[in-house]
Amino acid sequence: MTNVPDVVTSTEPQETGPEGAIPAAILAVLRRAGFVAADIEPCFVALTGGVASDIWKVEAGGTPIVVKRALSKLRVAAEWLAPVERNAAEADWFRVVGTIVPEAVPKILFHDAPSGLFAMPYFPPQRYPVWKAQLRDGAVDQHFAARVGATLGRIHAATMDSAPLAERFANDETFHAIRLEPYLEATARRHTTLADRLMELSRATLACRQALVHGDVSPKNILAGPAGPVLLDAECAWYGDPAFDLAFCLNHLLLKCVWNRAAAPRFLAAYDVLREAYFGEIPSAVAAGIEARTARLLPALFLARIDGKSPVEYITTDADRDLVRSAAIPLILAPAAQLSAIRNSWASTLQNDGQGLT
Ligand SMILES: Nc1ncnc2c1ncn2[C@@H]1O[C@H](COP(=O)(O)OP(=O)(O)OP(=O)(O)O)[C@@H](O)[C@H]1O
Ligand SMILES: [Mg+2]
Repeated sequence: MTNVPDVVTSTEPQETGPEGAIPAAILAVLRRAGFVAADIEPCFVALTGGVASDIWKVEAGGTPIVVKRALSKLRVAAEWLAPVERNAAEADWFRVVGTIVPEAVPKILFHDAPSGLFAMPYFPPQRYPVWKAQLRDGAVDQHFAARVGATLGRIHAATMDSAPLAERFANDETFHAIRLEPYLEATARRHTTLADRLMELSRATLACRQALVHGDVSPKNILAGPAGPVLLDAECAWYGDPAFDLAFCLNHLLLKCVWNRAAAPRFLAAYDVLREAYFGEIPSAVAAGIEARTARLLPALFLARIDGKSPVEYITTDADRDLVRSAAIPLILAPAAQLSAIRNSWASTLQNDGQGLT
């Protein structure tokens, strides 16, 4: 989940400090599930300093696995509570999506609802680097970006208009609490002239029930694996507006232009191919609607990563923050119908700010 400033987290195992020590209750669950034999003392390594979940790599003689357990109180300075049921929703999202694009998600090895944890295979960072780290370095693989778009499009297309899935992922309350409120509504409080539009956007987004949404399609949660993207971190899973996922992901490509200015033309190209590949998978009857809703959400999310509750950590100067605001605000006030218009508008903002776009 990403509710706090993004950082590149490493999948390299870190020292297990006192906080990373494995609770006995979790070890007991793993033993009961048959993942750790009674006579084996497993090796647990905390994978990240994760703020939303505890994540451990577990080695017990065989192939390593990863155990993820949601925290009820996030490890941030502010009091931030999030329901632990999101761990079950995440496991469920992986199960459903595993039937659509099995290569693009971890397989759920087991899920223990009472202890709020599930286990999945371990993806070694040497073969599965985090996409965000590649983008930071300006390594923008256009083919990979297209694979991300196509994967997302396939998930949305395959889950569209499904009453059983709508019921299974009726997570409106959590989605509102951990996505719409911290991004759109927090930004509405900072920008009174945009408040009505952003609040209406939040309401309209929550009211849309069209497809299975991941909710956190950020490069930080995508591994660049040898067989294409692997999507992680589906804690925000919700049956709702697929435009949210597309906008969320495209937003990161726009923001990355500020992070690595020299690579901006490649990020814009990746935006184009991701969008095209996405719509290549979407039935034409619904494509224009999704595009229009994405075009409304995108500038709002763009501004939200500056002025909402979860600002990106890599946009650090007032000049850069103002640059994003100057591009986002007009597009919130007068939404574009097409995503290419948003890209072109951002490109000309970059072109004209003195640093150019080379
Ligand atoms: N199965 C896995 N194999 C290897 N690395 C993993 C695996 N699952 C998670 N990770 C690593 O741990 C990081 C955090 O995982 P995840 O995003 O699921 O947790 P989170 O607590 O929701 O994180 P955050 O709040 O920081 O986004 C991932 O970005 C990835 O680097
Ligand atoms: Mg994550």
